[in-house]
Amino acid sequence: GVEAMKITVVGTGYVGLVSGVCYAELGHSVICVDKDPLKVATLQNGEIPIYEPGLQELSVRNAELGRLRFTSSLGDSVKGADLIVIAVGTPPLPGGQANLAYIELAAQEIADAMEGRPVVAIKSTVPVGTNEKVRELIRERTDCPFDSVSLPEFLREGSAVSDTMHPDRIVIGTDSPRAEALLRELHAGLGCAFVVTDIRSAEMIKYASNAFLATKISFINEIANICEKVGADVTRVAEGMGRDKRIGASFLKAGIGYGGSCFPKDTQALIQIAGHVDYEFKLLRSVVEVNQDQRFNVIRKLETIFGGELSGRTVAVWGLAFKPDTDDVREAPAQEIIGELLARGVEVRAYDPIAMDNFRSQFGSGDGSVVWCGSALEAAAGSDAVCLLTEWSEFGETDLQRLRAVVREPVLIDGRNAFDEAALQGTDFIYYSVGRPSLARGVKAPVPELSY
Ligand code: UDX
Repeated sequence: GVEAMKITVVGTGYVGLVSGVCYAELGHSVICVDKDPLKVATLQNGEIPIYEPGLQELSVRNAELGRLRFTSSLGDSVKGADLIVIAVGTPPLPGGQANLAYIELAAQEIADAMEGRPVVAIKSTVPVGTNEKVRELIRERTDCPFDSVSLPEFLREGSAVSDTMHPDRIVIGTDSPRAEALLRELHAGLGCAFVVTDIRSAEMIKYASNAFLATKISFINEIANICEKVGADVTRVAEGMGRDKRIGASFLKAGIGYGGSCFPKDTQALIQIAGHVDYEFKLLRSVVEVNQDQRFNVIRKLETIFGGELSGRTVAVWGLAFKPDTDDVREAPAQEIIGELLARGVEVRAYDPIAMDNFRSQFGSGDGSVVWCGSALEAAAGSDAVCLLTEWSEFGETDLQRLRAVVREPVLIDGRNAFDEAALQGTDFIYYSVGRPSLARGVKAPVPELSY
């Protein structure tokens, strides 16, 4: 087998925590470091500060096996490490640029403590050139030799553990054969492809991948908008497209647009990176613009149904997380949609199975006028419309008769095509989804007349 490595992971956010736990699961000796002593105490207690299926079990098991430790002392943890992985946050600055302050701080502390000849890898998503900058920063502070690697991360929230244990590829950006060998060995058990390249290309791969996936989403959302007008069904269109291997079936689900901690941030950052080298990334600008606008289709559909005036209406919002199976509400379309509803004098009744607390603490001052509910049906009670914003599986499985019994008006705006249209036929619901024919009182709208 592979010899156990000593690995230090700096930062216990999504990327750092999942990577650290998974490296331990692969049999290595891992220390996860975080500045926040409260978070470290939580982790030492076997609790996980994020909602991520499977992560807690894996963390507790590896801690019990003595392969996984948590500390707030970066200096001690770095001593004797074969591999130091920087996985701190790079939150966007007001202009969209990535904030590198945490990376730089981590690099300084690592420089001051490291010994031997470690490999220093950056897993955080950073602008092209950052790995080289960080390398210089460390070199200025220490004579200790080390090797630099850009090690971009592609995990998704909600399936982070399985994404990490079964990746499509591992990208290794380095100019050091020794570092390349160490990282190949670290990931050998995963049986996936390696893309070994120079540091800048590795940095670029991460941005290009996320920008391309965001492009697929905005593309299918625009196709959906056209489908609505020509009487086609985007789910069938996407299936027909996706069967072409060159296109691929994934990330062609039309909806109210992407959110989360990555796509919005990374698309903006790549536009910025291009701008810094005097290149206008026109396509990506449009992707962002389409995504920004797509969420307001929910409001437009409500206006169509209620003749333009929403004031005084009661609207249930189902789903606050940016996607199902996570409690993350960062850049969730629900934030702006609820803000817009409140601004129009709507009474909002909101429910999410997991993300309610996070949403409330992030939503801020608008909070006062939202009624927070304990279940989907409770939120729907007395409403003039139900808007589904996140496709939690429980929503699509709703008993329509029970729903019909509690609402004031049978109006359903399905922002994620979560409902089976067939189940709604024969009910008296007015049903609008995304890029599919609407239903008027359970009857499919007639195919529109095309006059061209
Ligand atoms: C994403 C990338 O997938 C991952 O590789 C990267 O490391 C981080 O960013 P994540 O943000 O966790 O992961 O979520 P993902 O499942 O990719 O979904 C992102 C957003 O796109 C969600 O808001 C989702 O609702 C939306 N989406 C996704 C669509 O609207 N349609 C789709 O077909 C797919």
